[in-house]
Amino acid sequence: MSILKTVANNSLRPLKGEGKKLFIETYGCQMNAGDSEIVVSIMQQEGYRYTESIDEADIILINTCSIRDNAEQRIWGRLSEMRRLRKRKPSLIVGIIGCMAERLNEQLLESECGVDIVAGPDAYRDLPTLARTAEGGDKGINVELSKEETYAEIAPVRLDKNGVTGFVSIMRGCNNYCSYCVVPYTRGIERSRDPHTIVAEARTLFENGYREVTLLGQNVNSYRSGDVDFPELMAMVAEISPLLRVRFATSHPKDISDALLEVMARYDNICKSIHLPAQSGSNEMLKKMNRKYTREWYLERIAAIRRYMPDCAITTDLIAGFCGETEEDHAQTLSLMREVGYASAFMFKYSERPGTFSARHFEDDIEDGEKTRRLNEIIALQNSLSVASNEAEIGKLREVLVEGTSKRSDAQLCGRTSQNKMVVFDRHDHQPGDYVMLRITGCSSATLFGEVVEQ
Ligand code: 5AD
Ligand code: SF4
Repeated sequence: MSILKTVANNSLRPLKGEGKKLFIETYGCQMNAGDSEIVVSIMQQEGYRYTESIDEADIILINTCSIRDNAEQRIWGRLSEMRRLRKRKPSLIVGIIGCMAERLNEQLLESECGVDIVAGPDAYRDLPTLARTAEGGDKGINVELSKEETYAEIAPVRLDKNGVTGFVSIMRGCNNYCSYCVVPYTRGIERSRDPHTIVAEARTLFENGYREVTLLGQNVNSYRSGDVDFPELMAMVAEISPLLRVRFATSHPKDISDALLEVMARYDNICKSIHLPAQSGSNEMLKKMNRKYTREWYLERIAAIRRYMPDCAITTDLIAGFCGETEEDHAQTLSLMREVGYASAFMFKYSERPGTFSARHFEDDIEDGEKTRRLNEIIALQNSLSVASNEAEIGKLREVLVEGTSKRSDAQLCGRTSQNKMVVFDRHDHQPGDYVMLRITGCSSATLFGEVVEQ
């Protein structure tokens, strides 16, 4: 019966895509990578076919990032290259989706680069209709933000396919309004996805051979759906199988709770690695950034992590040259870094984003050359901390999950430790998806080297 129904439906409603080929290019964070997989799923359901070759595409979607000005500049550069492709294929449809679409909306249609579709992060279900509009010669635009959309029941089409590690989006949007950040404006208010759909998606990944899931959200600690909070969700996913590793990103320091640390410590398959963006080590700057914690609070949370999990790696994000940052504030960031001893960090120059609180109320008064100098000091310090953190691994026994072949040699594999450090080692007869026990024998600032330990 149900098959007949489908046939009848299809004959009444021809699929909009009609086999046209879709190419998608993704910039920015992991949330965007996850969104692109949802977009491909939505478009495939409407009859589009995904292609990995931009040259054969009938429709190109660029999933964009607005977090810093240089991210947007790269995308403008990419858009002007699209003009060349369009000359070769006049029927080509080009769409801008994601944060930059949300931020600039109609301005993108007015640009000379020839954009046909503009869709914000909550408008992806509308993409087939927008594509149809564009194919009819009009512009398709939808930048409406939603209070509910989580794409909960859509099964992402895995594009980043090492077949071992996958991302599962658990919430969307952000309510924190850090004063420098454009995300609450481009991705809307925070909403959590139904936990059962999350567990089902993680289980499907496991059944398809995946061995690690990373639960994703702007601030996973504030996840809540009905009675289920983030620590409970972590436990539910960890219970799928002891062979499935669980990671998460990103935590806000103000909400990282002991309940979460306790769950992390309890399950061996929850990875011992926490990304805890500090942004600055200066209380003055943290206040202006609206981070809602102090340096002392942050350090107490670091101490709590170490109490529950002495072996946990801690990584961070840092911003150099925020509005009014003095030399003393900058020195406080360097001293925080030393005090915590981060395993690694993402480090940025402050980039003013139009419409944010800091753009409206503070002056972007640190000269670019000075921002660069401070950033370089932060990077140099982090390099030495990363080396120290890697050197401390030498001699230890670590279990890695094999992700693939090493970039340098086919005879070697690479895999991550629970602490999220990449280790390169001789292949023997192992393959991606295996757990392998290694002794760490050496390191560079970015990679560890190991030897297989026979068990
Ligand atoms: N300028 C520089 N860095 C920023 N980030 C967010 N907004 C800005 C900005 N306007 C950084 C923060 C955040 C990471 C994702 O990007 O460090 O944690
Ligand atoms: Fe931006 Fe702060 Fe939300 Fe992170 S927590 S996305 S930095 S507003």
